[in-house]
Amino acid sequence: MTTVVAIDGVVEPGETARISVLDRGFLYGDSVYEVVRTYRGRPFLLAEHLARLERSASLLGIPLPLAREAQGEEIERVLAAAQNAESYLRVIITRGNGPIGLDPALASSPTRVVIVTELKSLPAELYERGAAICLIPAGRSTASTIPQGAKSGNYLVNIMALGAARRRGAHEAVMLDAAGLITEGASSNVFVVQGGALHTPPLHAGILEGITRRKVIELARGAGIEVHERALAPADLTGADEVFLTSTLREILPVTVIDGAEVAGGRPGPVALKLRERYRALTLA
Ligand code: PDD
Repeated sequence: MTTVVAIDGVVEPGETARISVLDRGFLYGDSVYEVVRTYRGRPFLLAEHLARLERSASLLGIPLPLAREAQGEEIERVLAAAQNAESYLRVIITRGNGPIGLDPALASSPTRVVIVTELKSLPAELYERGAAICLIPAGRSTASTIPQGAKSGNYLVNIMALGAARRRGAHEAVMLDAAGLITEGASSNVFVVQGGALHTPPLHAGILEGITRRKVIELARGAGIEVHERALAPADLTGADEVFLTSTLREILPVTVIDGAEVAGGRPGPVALKLRERYRALTLA
């Protein structure tokens, strides 16, 4: 497996790449990031990911060191150096180094990291059987914690939720807000199919606007499937015709078990399958 990293533009092997312990990304998770994957060696929806990176950075007041085009070129250089058949690609911008202290003004200049490593696909069997999820009360970000919609490096709530779900043998944690409503997965968005229509929590539920979520909504509408962004309760999931997760790495992953009980007849459903086919077609276009 080849891992290649660029730190502030300097390309080096993953094994030797180092960041200062005084970097605020390390000290506080004071950073933003994106995860992109390649299809046929090309980064998929890179412009959308870089646009979200810009939004996240702006919400946190981290100045981006490179313009979008230059950041894209740097990513291409790291991809070319890694030479993987397919790559997982992570771009991280931290607020930078400085004397220890919370004050963001202590940071000198942002640190820019690109990590490229070989893509590990999820097992085909997971898509055939469907995934198990657990619903975890997590009270995820509100406007007063992490600015809504920012993909920040601070993932502790999601990490704790995923840990709880994995201890129960589930693939993913789906987090509930303080009112018990569905928000999103630890690293995914959630959809249900009910009466032939798609339903997914709205952005103001405090979720990340997934790039895959947006594509799936477009694809569904293009296929004449209605999409409703509305509050979902646990009963909307357990009583749904189909449940599925979306994310860059999962694409569209059917869910067949929630909190240990079978849902959606225990089998991946036709709407998720059809959308996955259409999504796959986009990746090959
Ligand atoms: N995470 N919600 C959260 C909290 C996420 O971390 C992610 C993705 C998503 C789905 O977004 P997208 O469709 O743009 O991948 C939703 C990435 C993949 C990660 O952290 O690994």
